[in-house]
Amino acid sequence: LSKGFRTNGSSMELGECIQNTGFHEDDETEDAVGGDEENRTSTVKMSPGREEDTYTQIKPYAGMPKEVLLLYSVQARYRLPREILFWLTIVCTLALVALTITVIVMSPRCLSWWQSSPVYQIYPRSFKDSDSDGIGDLKGILDKLDHFQYLNIKAIWISPFYKSPMKDFGYDVEDFRDIDPLFGSMQDFDDLLAAMHDKGLKLIMDFIPNHTSDTHQWFNLSSSGHAQYKDYYIWANCNTTHAPNNWVSVFGNSSWTYVEERQQCYYHQFLKEQPDLNFRNPHVRREMTEILRFWLEKGVDGFRMDAVKHILEAKHLRDEPQVDPQQDPDTIDTEFELHHDYTTTQLGLHDILQAWRGEMDVYSREPGRYRFMVAESYDYEETDKTMMYYGTPYVKESDFPFNFYLMDLPTNLTGTGAQGLVNLWMANMPVGKWPNWVVGNHDKPRISSSVGQEYIKVINMLLLTLPGTPTTYYGEEIGMMNINVTIDEIQDPFGKFNPVSNASRDPQRSPMQWSDGPNSGFSDANHTWLPLHPHHTTVNVEAQQKDSGSVLSQYRALSLLRQAQLPLHRGWMCYIWSDADVFAFLREIDGLDKAFLVVLNFGADSVINLSAITELPEQLTLHMSTKQENYGMPVIKSSIATARGEGLLLEYSTHMRFNPGHASQCFVSEKACYLGVLDILYKC
Ligand code: GLC
Ligand code: MG
Repeated sequence: LSKGFRTNGSSMELGECIQNTGFHEDDETEDAVGGDEENRTSTVKMSPGREEDTYTQIKPYAGMPKEVLLLYSVQARYRLPREILFWLTIVCTLALVALTITVIVMSPRCLSWWQSSPVYQIYPRSFKDSDSDGIGDLKGILDKLDHFQYLNIKAIWISPFYKSPMKDFGYDVEDFRDIDPLFGSMQDFDDLLAAMHDKGLKLIMDFIPNHTSDTHQWFNLSSSGHAQYKDYYIWANCNTTHAPNNWVSVFGNSSWTYVEERQQCYYHQFLKEQPDLNFRNPHVRREMTEILRFWLEKGVDGFRMDAVKHILEAKHLRDEPQVDPQQDPDTIDTEFELHHDYTTTQLGLHDILQAWRGEMDVYSREPGRYRFMVAESYDYEETDKTMMYYGTPYVKESDFPFNFYLMDLPTNLTGTGAQGLVNLWMANMPVGKWPNWVVGNHDKPRISSSVGQEYIKVINMLLLTLPGTPTTYYGEEIGMMNINVTIDEIQDPFGKFNPVSNASRDPQRSPMQWSDGPNSGFSDANHTWLPLHPHHTTVNVEAQQKDSGSVLSQYRALSLLRQAQLPLHRGWMCYIWSDADVFAFLREIDGLDKAFLVVLNFGADSVINLSAITELPEQLTLHMSTKQENYGMPVIKSSIATARGEGLLLEYSTHMRFNPGHASQCFVSEKACYLGVLDILYKC
């Protein structure tokens, strides 16, 4: 007893457990314990050598002392399950960690907002007028945000609304940190941005680095030779009759204008009211970067970089070579008569853009706040110049440069022509980059006017079923067309410069057609800044919302489908067919049996036979036709009929992928495959 309850070197007071009602002794223990109740609470008597027996006969209970528990725990029937459980937990935890790492490593990047939604361009003068002055404004845009939710569009690019004398309708900026009163106030801007973010919409602004307005205070100070600002613009010695060289403006005539005050000429790639900034001056670069930060701080989601190829020009100011060396140099007055070796795409340009990209990345770190950059550069057939704006595998630049090739559809309106234009981008785009498609903007005639309205639906189907981001210029979703503007009505300065050559951009800038009401619901004013298209009574948002076969309803259906169907937004594209009328391609993704065949007719009624494509099943299901009367029509692959301007979206199921068996016909930008068992996408 003197040993008490000493076991395995540790001691305890039995009283601690006896008071516990869960404690019971068996008969033997009862013998060992002294007879009276009081003793039981303080001591337990037992003969030496019997202590182990005593313990093993105590039944386990909650709150048992450690020493007692330890006795049980060494027994095999407790120890074994415990050890099994322990190792099972370790193994499961490790397996979970390994699985998580594997899934993360296997997963392709999530699509960002600028990839998963079309980009919609608003020309703010023409979208919606809220203050009845006949000119659209920011509050007008705010009123119409539901339109984007209806269209399932998340990314909105608004052409410039900075303070401006409006010589080039806002592309001539007087103050990069202010809103023009015509469009509203800074408060209106803040309200618009907040409302857009509330609705999950992203705002892309125009950033216009190449030039300012001649009313910008920097230019006034520069013209007067102010020490700090004198080199903010590009000045050269000249006189009133002789320009420094033969360089011409994009808008026509010499790109030099003489300033009496400074007795020098300044350089302008566009209007004389748009002097070019001197980006070789580090102060100018710093100023423009700070402006970028100003809007990023406000929460702007992206920038469309305006006219970037013009940002730098050669310092030596040598004459540019003539396209026709025999031409009399004095007659050269348009940009198409010179090779722009010294005024566009100069060395250093991409460093500037990459530095801005870096600035934007600083603001992209917050989750869900990626800041997007798109570059505007018309390089025509020099595709390699355009592709440079994608950056390199090591240095990021724009997310994409605008792809303007489909704007040439009017002169390539055949199946083969359409495929050729698509291929111009796909075949030249750097590996792993994201494509995009544009058919119209505020600078180019509306596509439905140049190809004919009968093709607008098939063109929208092309845009929304190709891989990459489609861009939609306001009104394209309802098939708006150019207006006629007489010579006396011309508003666009470019058009005024050259009224006979159809240079005016007014026809594609007419007010948005919302309804069949007065001014088509665009404005309550007596007069709108440009006339409405006469067909607005039938071609308008309100009417088309009610008609399931309208351009608008089909646009919406395609936009929803593009997001919902994995092969359409993540799959690759393979060319299947092209002839004088039809262009057909498929969208499929490895691992998923569901795929889509897109058959687009850009010519006359046609029937194509795709029997030779063994990867296609005999019969396909018609998911959508731009001609409503064909809905539900069964489609046999040996006889796929399309009418002029018709587009078909056919769904099919197959285990045989077309790619990689025909890799030369297929394009994969960000390769992702589908794993049905886990219902996940993975890199492949
Ligand atoms: C861009 C704009 C165009 C403008 C020009 C000068 O090309 O799209 O509208 O006139 O830059 O800023
Ligand atoms: Mg207004």
